Amino acid sequence: MTPIGLFYGSDTGYTEIVVRLIEEEFSAINPNLLTVYNIADVPVTTMQTYDRLIIGCPTWDVGQLQADWDKAYDELDTLDLSGKEVAIFGLGDQYGYPDTYCDAIGILAEKLVSLGAELVGFTAAEGYEFTHSEGVKDGQFLGLALDEDNESEKSPQRVSDWVWQLVDEFDLVHYLDPVTA
Ligand SMILES: Cc1cc2nc3c(=O)[nH]c(=O)nc-3n(C[C@H](O)[C@H](O)[C@H](O)COP(=O)(O)O)c2cc1C
Repeated sequence: MTPIGLFYGSDTGYTEIVVRLIEEEFSAINPNLLTVYNIADVPVTTMQTYDRLIIGCPTWDVGQLQADWDKAYDELDTLDLSGKEVAIFGLGDQYGYPDTYCDAIGILAEKLVSLGAELVGFTAAEGYEFTHSEGVKDGQFLGLALDEDNESEKSPQRVSDWVWQLVDEFDLVHYLDPVTA
């Protein structure tokens, strides 16, 4: 079993593009770090089997979870995530929906913390243009925010920086290939 399980949902495929970037980045470090699941295809209890989780969810329908996460939301209450570290990434459209940009990050953060998870992978909210996000607390996103609608060219660097942040915060340094390290 890999040390990290990544669970994502996607309506129109943008989140899948980012999942591939995250996969490539981790795989360049060590091909055995990450297993990817579409939350539409597995029971939420699969999340319980990992101590380190990455959760990906775009914001839809003005400040709501993506449909498959919305469906899974109540079932999450069956999980005990105590002792687990969780990093969330979200996709949104900061110019189209500036008052609810990446709200799903905040909705899932609140839920996962209520289930005992420790959140990691916070990032600076600077460099984006929006007026409000439920995903921001004390000037930081409670994860990583991406905007494939408007600035997909920034995603590879944002993902790369975040993956290296997670290698540190997930304490995966011993998995580093000696050549990479
Ligand atoms: C009807 C509709 C509502 C949306 N609502 C929001 C929103 O409230 N906040 C936000 O940041 N993005 C919003 N978006 C943008 C999507 O989150 C964005 O396109 C995302 O990349 C879609 O990811 P997916 O292709 O993986 O489903 C909305 C898009 C549509 C079409």
